[in-house]
Amino acid sequence: MPETSNVDYSTKIPNNVGLLDDQRVLKALEQWHPGYIDWWMTMGPEGFQTSDVYLRTAVSIDPKGWAKFDYVKMPEYRWGILLAPRQEDRQVNFGTHKGEKAWQEVPGEYRAMLRRLVVVQGDTEPASVEQQRHLGKTAPSLYDMRNLFQVNVEEGRHLWAMVYLLQKYFGKDGREEAEGLLQRRSGDADKPRMLGAFNESTPDWLSFFMFTFFTDRDGKMQLESLAQSGFDPLSRTCRFMLTEEAHHMFVGETGVGRAIEATCAAMKAAGIEDPYDINAVRKLGVIDLPTMQKKANLHFTLSLDLFGSEVSTNAANYFNCGLKGRYQETRLEDDHQLTNATYAVSKLVDGKVKMVDEPALTAINMRLRDDYVADCAKGVERWNKVIEKSGIKFRLELPHVAFHRHIGEFANVKASPSGVAISESEWAKQKDQWLPSKADGDFIASLMAPCWERGKFASWISAPKVGIDNKAGDFEYVKIHQA
Ligand SMILES: [Fe+2]
Ligand SMILES: [Fe+2]
Repeated sequence: MPETSNVDYSTKIPNNVGLLDDQRVLKALEQWHPGYIDWWMTMGPEGFQTSDVYLRTAVSIDPKGWAKFDYVKMPEYRWGILLAPRQEDRQVNFGTHKGEKAWQEVPGEYRAMLRRLVVVQGDTEPASVEQQRHLGKTAPSLYDMRNLFQVNVEEGRHLWAMVYLLQKYFGKDGREEAEGLLQRRSGDADKPRMLGAFNESTPDWLSFFMFTFFTDRDGKMQLESLAQSGFDPLSRTCRFMLTEEAHHMFVGETGVGRAIEATCAAMKAAGIEDPYDINAVRKLGVIDLPTMQKKANLHFTLSLDLFGSEVSTNAANYFNCGLKGRYQETRLEDDHQLTNATYAVSKLVDGKVKMVDEPALTAINMRLRDDYVADCAKGVERWNKVIEKSGIKFRLELPHVAFHRHIGEFANVKASPSGVAISESEWAKQKDQWLPSKADGDFIASLMAPCWERGKFASWISAPKVGIDNKAGDFEYVKIHQA
């Protein structure tokens, strides 16, 4: 079966890449499949593998109507290989190869670099499933539980997407890397996942929502820049992944938004005006706004670290070679080679944060991070609208990029959320005001009681405005059969 926009479900592995005609890759993937299922059963959503979940499955890559909703047991989800349609005349759109025909095979000289990009992206996908595997048990509603599982199965599919590229284009090393993706474990001391934020724990649902807002958004930015790649199969894979990724960020943004809404409504009802009267607010069974700010601070800064060093020769090489572009590369108006261009990078100069011009080529990571911060800021403003509407005087804000960093220019300094460099002792004194403390975590944990009755929601989160697939409020999104 040739490449089409419809998905071929006749093979064990649904696909629109003509796997039936590609027996070598089909066999390789079929051999990898049992290991994947084994990983899913041991590291996927704990306790819900036999439940029926109302999930969307991709049945076509047509932008309209690619999803079909139905009850599925997660281990039976049809993880497939779906690439966005091929554009016949597509070119390499940036770097030294700009104007050449886009590559359908891996250019030999860039093999190692491309493999690295695919493996690093691939490693994040199963990592988040591992991080979120305990959350089903404390789901604040069936609606939220479904959303969690939808995100989980799609991250699993993203792993498949990267493994397909490895198996098809990278021969023996590709096979080994595909195995490695099933071996590493989030937070494991010996075999951790490759990137820091993906080894942190996701202890509660507010963390999950913040993670999908901030960290999946890093994923979006990475996929956007890989979607620009001159290596066409990578570009097409990432383009389809982005359609799924949008839902993950929706889950995060509306999840936090609904928690904010519940808090503001409870404060109003109780006549509490001071958002900093934390004890009074917490007694209402909702999460106080200052604690939400701390959670946002944590997840935003962990996600900033994922962009790597502000100034990076690796990033310059990826760009020069046409492998990884900038956000919305083809819509930018410049030479797309950045021969003489500069870009302002925030740096620490004599203990002060300053903007310093660097060659734009080496500042590619910084630029992508700036685009990311702008994207985050818009979402935060939508949260602020929710607070504003309630009349409560409080604003959520993104902390300065120098705050709480472990990678890049600010890794070795302590800074306040407003970006002022401070001493270690000052940091130690203040840090519990800026990042979630043990007591904050304990309080949030105390709210994480399951709420699995149809149409009901835990005290700390409000109901969504509309259901998934336009279902009514009391729709049974998950039929729970606990193993
Ligand atoms: Fe993903
Ligand atoms: Fe995601």
